[in-house]
Amino acid sequence: MPLLEALNIVKVYPNGVRANNNISFSIEQGEIHAIVGENGAGKSTLMKMLYGLETPTSGQITLRGQPVSIDTPHKAIELGIGMVHQNFMLVDSFTVAENIALGREPRSGAALDRAKAIQDTRQLAETYGLQVDPTARIDSIPVGMRQRVEILKALYRGAEILILDEPTAVLTPKETNDLFTAIRSLVKQGKTLIFITHKLREVMEISDRVTVMRDAQKVGTVNTRDTSIPELARMMVGREVFMVVDKPPVKRGQPVLEVKDLTYANEAGRALVNHVSFTVYENEILGIAGVEGNGQTELIEVLTGLRNPTGGEALVDGKPILGQGPRKVRENRVTHIPEDRLTNGVARDGSIADNLIIDRYYRAPYARSGLLDLGKVAQNGADMIKQFGILAPSSSLPVGSLSGGNMQKVIVAREFSSSPRLLIAAQPTRGVDIGAIEFIHQQLVNKRTEGLAILLVSADLQEVMKLADRLMVMYNGEVVAILPNGPDVTEEKLGLYMLGAARQTAEEMGAV
Ligand SMILES: Nc1ncnc2c1ncn2[C@@H]1O[C@H](COP(=O)(O)OP(=O)(O)O)[C@@H](O)[C@H]1O
Ligand SMILES: [Mg+2]
Repeated sequence: MPLLEALNIVKVYPNGVRANNNISFSIEQGEIHAIVGENGAGKSTLMKMLYGLETPTSGQITLRGQPVSIDTPHKAIELGIGMVHQNFMLVDSFTVAENIALGREPRSGAALDRAKAIQDTRQLAETYGLQVDPTARIDSIPVGMRQRVEILKALYRGAEILILDEPTAVLTPKETNDLFTAIRSLVKQGKTLIFITHKLREVMEISDRVTVMRDAQKVGTVNTRDTSIPELARMMVGREVFMVVDKPPVKRGQPVLEVKDLTYANEAGRALVNHVSFTVYENEILGIAGVEGNGQTELIEVLTGLRNPTGGEALVDGKPILGQGPRKVRENRVTHIPEDRLTNGVARDGSIADNLIIDRYYRAPYARSGLLDLGKVAQNGADMIKQFGILAPSSSLPVGSLSGGNMQKVIVAREFSSSPRLLIAAQPTRGVDIGAIEFIHQQLVNKRTEGLAILLVSADLQEVMKLADRLMVMYNGEVVAILPNGPDVTEEKLGLYMLGAARQTAEEMGAV
């Protein structure tokens, strides 16, 4: 008998969206069950019904063979089902221990026993190998630890089945590894894990079985050891996904971006970008590899005008671009796909059409004698939706209504259509689904082949190795290696540079 079973689940939201269409699946005691599917496939909706945040329009859920109606999270917790959401739900100004103990025993009036909360947290953390600092405030700890707090909170409430909704979307590769170690130890202690993701390598690494969803339906459930990434990708997208980019050899052209001895120090005087020099040429993608937090973000922020350097310079086509703000950088034909698209990439409430011209509304053809030509804006919106395969019924819809992948396509469309010389792409496919990743990768390579100079930063080493013509490794704010990309470049070799265990000489670095 399966531990949990869902039978013919249908969910139609009040606005008419059919998010789950007749879904049946089962979970076995002690397994790690991955649920995969592109953004909008209906994964979170299905999980919310298991956790009592939504109720099915029709269908039945059974637990250990018994029909149950899970109409509130409280009920789910009583039944031993816990869930960690995509967006954490912790109280920022409280400590780790307070968050974990909070609300478990709702004795109104009685103060929380802090000492006991701390002790319970310590014990729980040790039992499950989930390391946290009980006395730290939530707003002072890294994302990976916040997630462990959420997991411990669910375990403290007696969760036997733990649902993790895209837990790795916010994690660095190191944090992801730590999470997987913790998941394995949870299973050893008898827990059952449901794990949502759209990263197939993670599925292959951690799960026992996989259920694939597409367009509100279940495509199938397979044993992980009997499947492969290409097969899962095909099930998810509904067509063959090649995940290889067509990248013709091309000779690099003139230098476009020249960075010379660039330094950026924070208020405390620490050099986060430390005497960095490199060049990006026409017809090439220079990929920056490195463990996150080694100066990549600060380097990009300086180059895009968001921060002022403390030393050195950067030239685009021979003209200095730094220290004059983002608009000046753009006027020098530098475009930017920002790392955090929600805060820097789009105006969520603005329409798709408006977001596509947000950087150029004040110029022809959109501005005519000081007025915005709405016809031109709408026409451009419709063109871009078509050209970039943005899944949206109309360009007048708010960008915020799109899935992550489609939002990213809006940004890519906008940045590509401004005839740039240099594109700075930071984590261009983070949180984006496979179909869109394939598309964005191919677009980046096509633009490079046409002559664009591209500086690519990604925490995904596979992505950098797949796309880049040359690789540059940053460690501790410094450039420690620059090498041509090729079959002899391996993750292991890059890893040595990334962790600071190896470093090129100045001659080696200058040679490529
Ligand atoms: N509360 C809601 N009201 C209306 N529609 C929703 C709601 N939540 C999700 N949807 C829609 O349901 C579909 C499935 O969403 P979701 O379950 O979040 O997918 P996934 O987690 O696979 O990305 C999407 O089209 C989404 O826009
Ligand atoms: Mg979701």
